[in-house]
Amino acid sequence: MFEFPFPGVAMGCDYNPEQWSPDVWREDIALMREAGLGFVTLGVFSWALVEPEPGRFDFGWFDEVLGLLHEGGIAVDMATATAAPPPWLTTAHPEILPVDADGRTLWPGSRQSWCPSSPVFREHALRLVAEMARRYGSHPAVRLWHVSNELGCHNGRCWCDVSAAAFREWLAKRYGDVDALNTAWGTTFWSQHYTSFDQVLPPRITPAFKNPTQQLDFARFSSDALLDYHRAERDVLRGICPDVPVTTNFMVSSHQTEQDYFRWAPDQDVVSQDHYLDARLPRPRAEQAFTDDLTRGVAGGKPWLLMESATSAVNWQPVNVAKRPGELLLDSLRHVARGADAVGFFQWRASAAGAEKFHSALVPHAGRDSERFREVVALGSALRAVGEVAGSPVRADVAVLFDWEAMWACDLDSHPSAELRYTDAANRWHRALAGLGVTADVVHPESDLSGYRLVVVPTLYLCSDAAAAGLRAFVEAGGHALVTYFSGIVDPDDRIRLGGYPGAFRDLLGVRVEEFAPLLPGETVTLDDGSRADLWAEHATAPDAEVLARFVDGPRPGDPALTRRAAGAGAAWYVGTRLDEAATAALADRVAREACATRLDVPAPGVELVRRGRYLFVLNPTDEPVAVRTEGVDLLADARPGAASGGSVTVAARSAAVVREEE
Ligand code: GLA
Repeated sequence: MFEFPFPGVAMGCDYNPEQWSPDVWREDIALMREAGLGFVTLGVFSWALVEPEPGRFDFGWFDEVLGLLHEGGIAVDMATATAAPPPWLTTAHPEILPVDADGRTLWPGSRQSWCPSSPVFREHALRLVAEMARRYGSHPAVRLWHVSNELGCHNGRCWCDVSAAAFREWLAKRYGDVDALNTAWGTTFWSQHYTSFDQVLPPRITPAFKNPTQQLDFARFSSDALLDYHRAERDVLRGICPDVPVTTNFMVSSHQTEQDYFRWAPDQDVVSQDHYLDARLPRPRAEQAFTDDLTRGVAGGKPWLLMESATSAVNWQPVNVAKRPGELLLDSLRHVARGADAVGFFQWRASAAGAEKFHSALVPHAGRDSERFREVVALGSALRAVGEVAGSPVRADVAVLFDWEAMWACDLDSHPSAELRYTDAANRWHRALAGLGVTADVVHPESDLSGYRLVVVPTLYLCSDAAAAGLRAFVEAGGHALVTYFSGIVDPDDRIRLGGYPGAFRDLLGVRVEEFAPLLPGETVTLDDGSRADLWAEHATAPDAEVLARFVDGPRPGDPALTRRAAGAGAAWYVGTRLDEAATAALADRVAREACATRLDVPAPGVELVRRGRYLFVLNPTDEPVAVRTEGVDLLADARPGAASGGSVTVAARSAAVVREEE
C-alpha cells in the first residue's frame, strides 16, 4: 500500500523540456514556483532523445532537468518514456507497426505506432524501462512512475498477424476447447463453425456483419493485451525500485471506449486519469462530472489523481473551445469535489512546433504576461487553500451502474437502432440526478450495492447472472432500482436471454417485452402522464407490475412505458423509452424521493453541489451570484460565511466556494 504520491491537492503538469533550450528550463523552474506547482510528469515522449541508438543512452539532459526540479522543490512523476518508439526502431523493425481492421499499416510520423502484442516492441521498451528505473528509481525528486502514456489512445486495437496469434492464444485460455468458442459465438449461424483455434481471426474487414461475440471478445482481448503490457513495464519497475508507486494515466470518458478500467485499476498503486472537455457533446461539463464519478468508482472510492486536463482549448476537436474567465477554477474544483487529490494538465509550456502547438498550456505562447498564466497562478493558490480536503471520501447513497463490456456489446452493429448509444443513457440519468443535488457513484454492475438506497441501471444491454442476482438481492433488502430500456438483453457471450426481454431482469421488474419498436430520428412519443420521449418504444406487458404510465401514441399506444414492482422490502422500476430531459428529471426526482436518497439543496439550475467528507463544494458556473445555506469556513474566501451572513455563503458568478462545515 502506497500513500498518495503528492501532498495536499497538488497542481501539476506534463513537462517537455526537450522542446526548449536549457536557459528556458531555468525560467521554467522560476515560473513553476510562482504558480505553486507541486509536480511535473517528465519524459513521456523522450525515447528518441534518451536512446538515440539501440542500447546507447543519453541521460545528461534528464539529469540536469531533474536536478533543477528537485532544487526548485517540484516532485516528479517519471515517465518510462516508452509511449512513442523512435524512428530507428520502426525502421529496423517495421513488424512492430499496428495494422487496422482494413489491413492498413499505421505508419510512424505521429505517435504510438506500435502493436500492443509485439514481442519486439516489448523487448526494446522494457530495456529502456530498466535503464530508466536504474538511473532514476532512487532520485529524491521521483515520487511516482508513469508507465508509457494513455495506453491505447491510438493503438488500442491492432489487427496484424502478431495480434491475430495473440488473440487465438487468449481465446484458447478463455474457452479451453474450440467447441466452447463455437457455442459462445453462435457459429452455427452463417457457416462459421471452427474446428481449430488456428482458423480464428481478429474481426477484420468482412463482406457483411461480423460475428458479434468475435467482436466483443476482440475488444476484451485488446484491453487485456495492453493491460498485460502495462504489467510487464510495472514488473520491471517493481523489481528495480519497489519503493516508488506506479501508475499509468487512464482515459475514462464517454468517447474513449477501448479499455476496461475496472479490470485495470487493481494493478495501479494510484489510479490516475486524464480528462478533456469535449465540445462535441451536448453537455461537456455534465460529462466531466459523470466521468469523475466513474473514475472514483474505478478507484474503488479512493482518491485519484487527475494527471492531465487542459487549462483552456485542446487542438484535436473540430472547433477547440477556449475556457472563459473563471472556468479553469470551476473545472478543476469539479474534479476535486468528486474525488481527485491532485490536478494536472497537459502541458507546462505551449509548444512552438509540432501537432499540438495550438493546445493550451500553463504558459501560453503569449508567455507569463497573460491572463491564462495569471489564472494558473490563482488556481495554484486555490488548490493550496483546499489542500486539507485531500483524502476525504465522497459518500453517495445512489449508484449508477456502468460497464465497458456492456458498452462494447451494446454499441455493436446489426442492433435494433444505431441511434442508441450506451453512454447516452448513463450520462442522461447521472446528469438528472446531479441536477437534483444527488451525488451518485458510478460503479461496476457486480459491485457490492448494499450501501445504496437507489441504483440506476441505464441500458445495461449485457449483464452477468451475478449482476442480475446482486440487483435482485439489493431490491429485496429494501433498495430501489430503476432499470431502463434495452437492459438485461444478453448474457456475457452476447447470447439473447430467451423468453421475453429484459431477460435478466424480467422477474424482478414484472415486465415482459415481446418486441422492440425503435423510433426514427426526430420521431417522438407521448406518455399518458404527459411525458415526452424519443428513440425507443416497445411492445410490452406488465404481468406482475403496477403500470405508472402508458404510451399514448407511437408504434405501441396503450402499452406500458413506466412500471413499478414492489419486491421484498424495496421496489423495481422500469422505463421502456428515452424520456426527454424534463421527464427524466421528474422521474429521477420521484424515484430518489421514494428511495429517500440524500440530496443537497440546489439554489439555482446549473449550480453544482457536492459534499466530500466534511467539505461542501459549491460550483457556480452561472452568470448570477447564488446563496447556499451552510455553516462553516469557506476555504477559498478565508471567511466565516455562516457568521457573516446568517448561515449562508454567497458565491459570485462563475466562481466557487469550498466550505469546511461545522461538525
Ligand atoms: C493526451 C496525451 C497528451 C496530449 C493531450 C492533448 O492527454 O496524454 O500527450 O496529447 O492528450 O489533449
